[in-house]
Amino acid sequence: MNPRPTRDTDWDGVRLHVVTGKGGTGKTTVAAAMALALATAGRKVLLIEVEGRQGIARLFDCPPLPYAERKVAIGLGADGAGQGGDVYALAVEPEGALLDYLDMFYNLRRTGKALTRLGVMDFASTIAPGLSDLLVTGKATEAARRRVSSRRGSPHAYHTVVMDAPPTGRIGRYLNVSAEVSDLAKVGPIRTHADTVARVIRSPQTVVHFVTTLEEMPVQETLDGIGELRELTGGAIRPGGIIINMARPAMLAGADLSAAVSGSLDVTELAVGLKAAGISDNHGLAADLMTELREHAQQVILQNRERAELATAERPLYELPMVADGIDLAGLYQLAAALRRKGAA
Ligand SMILES: Nc1ncnc2c1ncn2[C@@H]1O[C@H](COP(=O)(O)OP(=O)(O)OP(=O)(O)O)[C@@H](O)[C@H]1O
Ligand SMILES: [Mg+2]
Repeated sequence: MNPRPTRDTDWDGVRLHVVTGKGGTGKTTVAAAMALALATAGRKVLLIEVEGRQGIARLFDCPPLPYAERKVAIGLGADGAGQGGDVYALAVEPEGALLDYLDMFYNLRRTGKALTRLGVMDFASTIAPGLSDLLVTGKATEAARRRVSSRRGSPHAYHTVVMDAPPTGRIGRYLNVSAEVSDLAKVGPIRTHADTVARVIRSPQTVVHFVTTLEEMPVQETLDGIGELRELTGGAIRPGGIIINMARPAMLAGADLSAAVSGSLDVTELAVGLKAAGISDNHGLAADLMTELREHAQQVILQNRERAELATAERPLYELPMVADGIDLAGLYQLAAALRRKGAA
């Protein structure tokens, strides 16, 4: 028996949700659905993309996102339709994040722009990867902490920030910002910035969710990713939930499942059933159906095995269905509603 998954008790206090997972398992889709689900009435949620691929713009069917926070959708309403708060999106890239950083801390945006124009900073190729990651994660933590005004007790600008993060193989190093820049900067402003960012990422306000499908490789990467996070940061960065994506419904269970997989289902009984339903079995339909049932049963058993593997991580499991016609805006809302129903968001 799978241990019963527990709900993430600190879901409510989280301000930064980081979404990772093996490539192609649905990180961008799930991050977007999560943002829709979190943006209930009156709430503003920021969805951040960090890999420069414009996946969010494509998903929400809008032009490529500039380096600016843009409203892309209305969140999920209380009745499960889109009448909630607002989802904003931002595609962060290191160069824009550096300009922000110079502006925020030194009032140096113009200098930064001049440097960029002069081509002094050919970012992607010259900047140390640790520093580039720090600038991007720094932008996400800044948005998560931002207040509407500098007045004491002013409310947060965003209720929550959801980050469509790099894949599992890189997530530990990506989030372990202070360690990654420690060789570059032992003291000084970059060190201070890294420490501030690390404080947010290592606080209970940040959790890292893992998206996976019920297949061997993504499941293994999820377990490795959770292990690596714990190892690298001694538990300081918290794994959140495991989101099982594109799960196919199981149409068989118990004795039927065992019978289907061992091929001991009664084919004559099936043929009689077909006949009773007015379907002719001239062409060996019953036998074909038996083969399909057997394949389905084998898949169900494999999926159950992967689910049991995932349960060993002792994190809450949230399961999202395969959306039949592919993901469009309606499909996203459907996934957002499923997340909300399952207690995620
Ligand atoms: N629940 C779902 N039902 C149906 N299709 C899905 C679902 N989730 C994701 N997809 C589809 O799977 C594909 C991969 O999804 P997505 O781009 O979100 O993955 P990703 O992990 O962000 O990929 P990458 O590693 O390339 O960034 C897309 O075509 C998406 O539409
Ligand atoms: Mg993606």
